[in-house]
Amino acid sequence: MIVLDGKVAAAATKDQLKEEVDAIIRAGRPAPHLAAILVGNNGASETYVASKVKQCAEIGFQSTLIRLDADVSEEHLLEKIESLNNDPSVDGILVQLPLPKQVNEQKVIEAIDPAKDVDGFHPASAGKLVQGLPTFIPATPYGIMLMLEHFNLETKGKHAVVIGRSNIVGRPMSILLSSNNRFGNCTVTICHSHTHNLKEICLQADILVAALGKPEFVKADMVKEGAIVIDVGITRVEDNTAKKGFRIKGDVAYNEVAPKTAAITPVPGGVGLMTIAGLLKNTLQAYKQRRG
Ligand code: GUN
Repeated sequence: MIVLDGKVAAAATKDQLKEEVDAIIRAGRPAPHLAAILVGNNGASETYVASKVKQCAEIGFQSTLIRLDADVSEEHLLEKIESLNNDPSVDGILVQLPLPKQVNEQKVIEAIDPAKDVDGFHPASAGKLVQGLPTFIPATPYGIMLMLEHFNLETKGKHAVVIGRSNIVGRPMSILLSSNNRFGNCTVTICHSHTHNLKEICLQADILVAALGKPEFVKADMVKEGAIVIDVGITRVEDNTAKKGFRIKGDVAYNEVAPKTAAITPVPGGVGLMTIAGLLKNTLQAYKQRRG
């Protein structure tokens, strides 16, 4: 069984990116610039955004963090996005989700200039992905594809089962795995809350992607011997014995599932680390497309 170590795969991606950024800087050109908007102070969102900003600095990107109060109006947030759309020094824009209930998330996503949509959530980006056209791939599925590539895991002709149909992970993941590319060409089944016989379907999976957000949902009796298991879950579960008062749990019961698999991602230390690598790659791509 191989543990698919996100630290190793993310470091390889970031090393490549840093080399490219170093060459840009040596040529006297401005660094790629990511602008992140964080609304309110949700603990998980704070952690993710801080990590995105820190990793930008590590590879030589410029970043700007815009913090807005939890009670911000939708109009004010849309104005902020518009000013970033019009700022030629900004290559990529991300608005950390979820947003407070007075703000229409879809409106916000659609306000971002598709040329700067480094999260890949705009319908224009999602539509291109469906049609197999070059676009910004949402960071988590992109990170998973980079991981499959890093560990050179064969996907062609395999049956991939994706649990979860979110626009952020499950749906784009299912499209990438079924697409005609080096780490695609799978036969894909998408499962969700209305799926009958979930366990039987999961047992047919050569590649099982768990992206439903329910801690330790996937048990050993749902996994085929020799499967590749990708765990996208990152739920904070209260635990008074932990330093921060919570532990991060994946969607897979790792200890019982891992011995049955050919390869599995740990949580933490797996897909989560790859997600930011995907975002950084998208930001460099936006830079190249905008500034040559
Ligand atoms: N919230 C959870 N995942 C993501 C992500 O990939 N991007 C943004 N902007 N918000 C998120």
